[in-house]
Amino acid sequence: MEMKNKIDYLRLSITDRCNLNCLYCTPLKKDQFLTHDEVLRYEEMVKIVEAFVTMGVRYVRITGGEPLIKKNITDLVSMIRDIKGLREIALTTNGIGLKDKARQLKEAGLDRINISINTLKEERYIDIAGRDYFKEVWAGIHSALKSGLDPIKLNVVVMKGINDDEILDFVRLTFRYPLNIRFIELFPTTERSEGLTYHMMKNTEIKEKILDQFGEMRRSFDINGNGPAEYYRLKDSMGLIGFINSSSDNFCNECNRVRIDCAGRISPCLFSGHIYDLRNALRNGKNDELSLSIKDIFEMKSEYNKNAINNRKVEMSSIGG
Ligand code: 5AD
Repeated sequence: MEMKNKIDYLRLSITDRCNLNCLYCTPLKKDQFLTHDEVLRYEEMVKIVEAFVTMGVRYVRITGGEPLIKKNITDLVSMIRDIKGLREIALTTNGIGLKDKARQLKEAGLDRINISINTLKEERYIDIAGRDYFKEVWAGIHSALKSGLDPIKLNVVVMKGINDDEILDFVRLTFRYPLNIRFIELFPTTERSEGLTYHMMKNTEIKEKILDQFGEMRRSFDINGNGPAEYYRLKDSMGLIGFINSSSDNFCNECNRVRIDCAGRISPCLFSGHIYDLRNALRNGKNDELSLSIKDIFEMKSEYNKNAINNRKVEMSSIGG
C-alpha cells in the first residue's frame, strides 16, 4: 500500500502585502494587490481553517505578506484559537510592529512565533530588507522574549558576501537569549532570487564554521518543529541552532503541509500550478464542495510527496514561504 503523509499543517497567508522589500523577494506593486473584496474576511478564514481541522490539520501558521500589517490580527488569533481540535497556532513575521503586539498576541492565544531577520547590523538592514526598520525589529524581538511566546525562532537567510560574516554573531545570541536561530538556505524562486545564485551558501559550510569556533554541537529534538528544520544545541546555550536545507535537500517526501492564500486558493505544493479556489464555495455556503476540494488536494499531495513537480515561479511575498 502506498504510504501517505499525514497532512496536519496549514500555512494561512492572510495578506498579499508586505512592508519590506527584501533583496530575494519581490513585494507586489499597488496595482497587483488583491482587492478588498477578493481577500477573505477573518470569519471566512476561520471557516476554512475549521474545514481543514475537520480533515486532520492540527497546526496553523499565519503568514503573509506581512501578517502584522492587518488590522486587529489578535481577533483572528483568538478566533482560530477557539477552533476545537487545533493544537497550535504560530505566526511568521518580519518583526515590524511586534513591539506593541507581542503580548496581545500571546494573550489572544498565539503559541509560537518566527521572526525573519537577516542581519544584526543596523546599517546593513536597509541593504537586505530595503527599508530602515532594524531598531523596530530588534525591539520586537525583545518584546517577544518578554511576552512568554515560546519558542521564538529567528529566520536567517545566509548569503555569501552579504551577511555570512554574521553567522557567529547570530550563533552567539543563543548564549544570551532563549532564541532559536535557523539558518535557511537561499532558494531561487523568482527572477530576483535567481539573480542571487552566486551568493548561495550551503548549510554544511555554515555548520563547519560554527563547529570550528564552538567545537561540538549536539543534535536536539527539544523543539517539536513541524517542518524540515534540523536542530542542534551548543554547550551552555539557551537557544538552539537550526538548519533548513532548502536548496541542498529535497524534503518533498516528508512534506506535511498545505498552503492557502488570502483569497482562499489552495494548492498541494508550493511549486504546483494546481490551484483550487475555495472562495466561491465558501461564500455560497457550499460546505460539501469545500470539503471535497480539500479532500482532492490531500489526495493529490501524495503524488507531490514523491517528487517536486516544479513548474511554477513562486512569489514568497504573497505566500510567505
Ligand atoms: N529563499 C530562502 N528563504 C526565503 N524566505 C523568503 N524567500 C526566500 C528564498 N527565496 C524566507 C524569509 C522568511 C522565511 C519564511 O522564508 O526570509 O524568513
